[in-house]
Amino acid sequence: METTLIILKPDAVQRGLVGRIISRLEDKGLQLVGLKLMQIDDALASKHYADHREKPFYPGLVRFMTSSPVVVAAVRGVGAIGVCRNLMGATFGSKAAAGTIRGDFGVSNSFNLIHGSDSPEAAAKELSLFFGDGGVVDFDRPIDCWVYDTSGGSPE
Ligand code: RTP
Ligand code: MG
Repeated sequence: METTLIILKPDAVQRGLVGRIISRLEDKGLQLVGLKLMQIDDALASKHYADHREKPFYPGLVRFMTSSPVVVAAVRGVGAIGVCRNLMGATFGSKAAAGTIRGDFGVSNSFNLIHGSDSPEAAAKELSLFFGDGGVVDFDRPIDCWVYDTSGGSPE
């Protein structure tokens, strides 16, 4: 099982899309193991988006991410990082495929509703930034034996 960090960005919270976006992750069969509403400050935004520090869109990105509260989630499942990136869709709302979160709920390229970790290394770093204080809750989900084929010993 893999755990990834999801952020419902300020536009998702302001537009009242939190429930519908989280539902898409739950509908897929992913498990929520952390969830909170919070305000990101400049220090946290700069750590989270450190890889983008030299990009031209960086100042606007930090301004956006700190402009209003976000909802952060720790999401678990087999291949959760890739599964979430597929559910999110392409970065730009104008290009994201219909059926994806960004494709269905937004048209802006900057206000694109959701962040998801893009690698196991990024997930580890971002989970520690946002849920480092024991914020991830590990618990068994009996329904997993219907979400996954567990007959071989590990979920598939
Ligand atoms: P994210 O990190 O937020 O999950 O998005 P992503 O991987 O799909 O895209 P990434 O390349 O990591 O870019 C981070 C965020 O910066 C904004 N962005 N603006 N105007 C632009 O050219 C531009 N490019 C990126 C988006 O909000 C993007 O999600
Ligand atoms: Mg990214």
